[in-house]
Amino acid sequence: MPAEVISLVRAAAGAASARGQRLYIVGGAVRDLLLGRPIVDLDLVVEGNAIALARHLAGARGETVVAHRRFGTATFRLGDFSIDVVTARSETYSRPGALPTVRPGTIGDDLLRRDFTVNAMAIPLGAGSPGDILDPHGGRDDLARGLIRVLHQGSFIDDATRIMRALRYEGRLGFQVEEETYSLMRDNVAMLGTISGDRVRRELELILGEDAPEHILRRAGEVGVLAELHPALRGDGGIEHRFSQARSRGSDEPALYLCLLAYDLTEEEGERLIARLDVRGPLKRDIQDTLRLKGELPALDRPHLPPSAVYGALRRRSPRAVLACALSTGGEAARGHLERYLGQYRYVETCLDGDDLQAMGVAPGPGLGRMLKALHDARLDGAVSTREDEEALVLAWMARR
Ligand code: CTP
Repeated sequence: MPAEVISLVRAAAGAASARGQRLYIVGGAVRDLLLGRPIVDLDLVVEGNAIALARHLAGARGETVVAHRRFGTATFRLGDFSIDVVTARSETYSRPGALPTVRPGTIGDDLLRRDFTVNAMAIPLGAGSPGDILDPHGGRDDLARGLIRVLHQGSFIDDATRIMRALRYEGRLGFQVEEETYSLMRDNVAMLGTISGDRVRRELELILGEDAPEHILRRAGEVGVLAELHPALRGDGGIEHRFSQARSRGSDEPALYLCLLAYDLTEEEGERLIARLDVRGPLKRDIQDTLRLKGELPALDRPHLPPSAVYGALRRRSPRAVLACALSTGGEAARGHLERYLGQYRYVETCLDGDDLQAMGVAPGPGLGRMLKALHDARLDGAVSTREDEEALVLAWMARR
């Protein structure tokens, strides 16, 4: 842990003791400490008012706290580190997939509400604490055996995002979902239907943010998770190759992976996936452009297309969609065109702009726009390469008018 986080933990322990409250490190941080993995976030549970404690700690460092009264949780940042402070609580679910109803409770209640045994351990902090790890559900044994195991049979019904979380931990930690947990996962996979698009998308993006998400997606395909997102989504076949190609060229963002995952869908299927995952903004356009461009690839799969024609076909598509198609298409010629568009054509600019043309006597209006485009095409196709060439071409066009 960074030194400033250790000093924060000390301060937190002192402040909680002074208030007569018990404080614990919980969840992923305990798991990762025991595994010797780097810690990226810190979850603290206090048997008492978490928001007041967080305000006290963050305030002393000039940080701002984001508090959620309904859940008694508070978050603040310390450099790159995110600190969550939570009031120890028990949770009940009014219906599958609903956000839980929470009631203040003990650390025992709080560990019992968690997803997996390896995430349900706590380190007590502060004076008078025994120092031993609280591990009521056998998390350390499962860590040693490399197993992801739920705490109770209804876990995936309460919260089906845990099905996706289990696969993510399996992939990240090189663990296996324990046998009974695996059959619960399969039996309850349809419960993903109770989870909002936004939450499912965020879980999918977390999977796509892991080191080799294609392996997790293969498992997600086997378990039936992908079919829940869209029946035509596949976790095997082409994905493995596309994803590793993307990585080998340093393009490993979740947004690109999502386009690569969606590549096998039709445009119509893509729209349903977009709606299911509540995808908006640029990412929505990336997926739509990927599937639209996929349909246009046969026309681009010819070796001798002039660069200006390639540019014309691709300029309105998002660069991410062009890359997704380049990584996915089997057409050699098309791939070459897409790669050259991404690496060269899209950066090509003319020396002359609209003002220059007007200074040369071209009247403003649509004709000027067409001339600029023709100049740009000429530049792309290598017919001109200097400012003087461009000027000569413009003068020749003007003389012909
Ligand atoms: N948790 C849970 N059920 C969920 C989400 C979270 O029980 N659907 C609990 C787990 O105990 C988890 C903790 O809340 O360890 C914190 O959640 P999160 O930050 O998502 O998990 P971490 O394990 O801290 O982090 P990461 O997944 O990035 O390793």
